[in-house]
Amino acid sequence: MSLKPNPGILDITPYVGGRAGAQGVDEPIKLSSNESALGPSPAAVAAFRDAAGGLEFYPEGGATELRDTIAQTYGLDASRIVCGNGSDELLTMLASAYVKPGDEIVFSAHGFILYRIIALSHGAVSVAVPENDLHTDVDAMLASITAKTRIVYLANPNNPTGSYLPHDEVRRLHAGLRSDILLVLDAAYAEYVKRNDYEAGIELVANFPNVVMTRTFSKVHGLAGLRVGWAYCPAAVADVLNRVRGPFNVSAPGQRAAAAALKDRAHVEASIAHNDRWLSFLIQNIRALGLRVDDSVGNFALVHFQDERHAAEADRFLTARGLILRGVAAYGLPHCLRVTVGNEDANRKVVAALGEFVRRA
Ligand SMILES: Cc1ncc(COP(=O)(O)O)c(C=O)c1O
Repeated sequence: MSLKPNPGILDITPYVGGRAGAQGVDEPIKLSSNESALGPSPAAVAAFRDAAGGLEFYPEGGATELRDTIAQTYGLDASRIVCGNGSDELLTMLASAYVKPGDEIVFSAHGFILYRIIALSHGAVSVAVPENDLHTDVDAMLASITAKTRIVYLANPNNPTGSYLPHDEVRRLHAGLRSDILLVLDAAYAEYVKRNDYEAGIELVANFPNVVMTRTFSKVHGLAGLRVGWAYCPAAVADVLNRVRGPFNVSAPGQRAAAAALKDRAHVEASIAHNDRWLSFLIQNIRALGLRVDDSVGNFALVHFQDERHAAEADRFLTARGLILRGVAAYGLPHCLRVTVGNEDANRKVVAALGEFVRRA
């Protein structure tokens, strides 16, 4: 007899993060992980440094100050907020708490890849629902629900497509789910969305016992390296997560920096304004080169090429010029590359290099 992991685990293709380096390029520009172009607030960095003075102490396990700051910022009940080591941890914990082997986890076909990994690591069945031209198809999602469905994950906005589901559609999705199915609204990019018909999910969580919204400090707050996320939950779900989470799952520097980041509204606004301007720049200018670029409400855009080979060639061409984008074959989009909004220099370089590529090809 030999040691064996649980069924499903060896079927997982380990998550591969965005590449950071390019051979022969001294200072590559990383646009492969949807990180913040402006980086964190100086106040967050100062709070992080300050926390270095007490590293021998365990963090405050309940992340009380951070939860209070989140609650004040968004007008929420702090007792229903649970913080995590990135929102990844919270998304995974929800499955650990509510999914057993053989259950089904539903998500859209080009949805965030972590949902598939979560399903496999819990011995659950992944139900990847076909999309409608890279948009979540609510009717198809509802049609895929069975007696075994336990969780529906919806990245809204979705990574890597950049599309979003309007609030009415999210409500319709929720209304079609049995009350023993958890709807998880993964709103990692919510801050960037400027659409009247979008809501991250606070209202649904406030009114229903089977909806959770997750958020992150990794994107607009520029703290991806610290790993801090949070979930807004029905009271019973918060209680469950507080039982299963590690007692000190968010580091002390993470808690301090995240609270400071949230309070620096000017920096958040600057980050969003930068994104508005340069996301439009990227989309318009890359379209002008004759490439399809989908509308996006995140801090990234999906660029389509003729086919997988053409996308791989473009990737090599850009990489050789120090521009690191993200191949999204693992998302079922081998003919696409995803580009994160960078600083002005990076964005201009991407457009210029893609222009060179298109003219050469
Ligand atoms: C849709 C979506 N959800 C969640 C995450 C994970 O974020 P975190 O850094 O909080 O774990 C990402 C990161 O890329 C994402 O794109």
